Amino acid sequence: MEYAIGIDLGGTSIKYALVSKAGDLLFEGRLPSFANVSAAKVIEQLTKAATMLKDEAIKQNLTVLGIGLGTPGIVDESNRIVLGGAENIVGWENIDVASLLEKQMNLPVVVGNDASLMGLGEMKYGSGRGYTHVVFLTVGTGIGGVVFIDGKPFNGYANRGMELGHVPLIANGERCACGAVGCLEHYASTSALVRRFSALAKERHLSFDSEINGELIVRLYHENFPTAVECMNEHFYYLGRGIAGFVNMFSPQRVVIGGGIAESGTFYLENIRKVVRENAIADCAVNTEIVAASLGNKAGLIGAASLIL
Ligand code: BGC
Repeated sequence: MEYAIGIDLGGTSIKYALVSKAGDLLFEGRLPSFANVSAAKVIEQLTKAATMLKDEAIKQNLTVLGIGLGTPGIVDESNRIVLGGAENIVGWENIDVASLLEKQMNLPVVVGNDASLMGLGEMKYGSGRGYTHVVFLTVGTGIGGVVFIDGKPFNGYANRGMELGHVPLIANGERCACGAVGCLEHYASTSALVRRFSALAKERHLSFDSEINGELIVRLYHENFPTAVECMNEHFYYLGRGIAGFVNMFSPQRVVIGGGIAESGTFYLENIRKVVRENAIADCAVNTEIVAASLGNKAGLIGAASLIL
């Protein structure tokens, strides 16, 4: 049976698996990406993941056709180079990651933007299946996305677009990691939520037994803890306004939201839907449903592998 190695590189971890044409996963796992160390260290981790999968495939007599890799940043897909824009990975600029991996692994490698491949995974096997006009967004450390028009991903000329997280949302706002001011990502990502909550907690002399992360804030929100309610409402407002802009632009059948926080429950989608309804033009939004991604954190590696399969 034929498989592809699917790898999703993130700021914290590398998710990997062998993926079949039907989208079934084998030997799924996760390694730290060491993105805060160096590009060389990240490549070492990618090679480690791919080697483990290749060895397992050999043991089980499975054919591996190649490696599909999703990475944050703008990817020149024809020259297979990560040009930049992956601020969460140290030195991840002008990296010919595909050639480096090919040399180490002796397998063909295809590389693409992580969010774009998550979107592809959702279109093939998840919440986008059966739809032609879809906006996919992933909300995590960063915000990324892709838009499908007539069933095809639109990535801008020479694949340089679809940085949906870097739409300027707030005039005179704070500076985003990309260097611009007031980006959607800087205000509506999970890291923005954590940053804002931590700042208010400090100001208000609040302390917690566990690490401040999205999960804790969502839990406190459900307990009606005022600072959590305030921060989540801000999060809904910023993200909802960003999505309203995409709805006015693309009038999609579905907006599919991925990333851990979007899976935190129906309350999350209901709040986003409300803000979108209040901010989008009704005639543009009339055919749009806002739903959660259904492949969870596997969408990226499945989409990446599908490039090979
Ligand atoms: C990057 C995108 C990436 C997204 C999700 C953003 O900060 O600019 O290229 O797709 O994060 O990882």
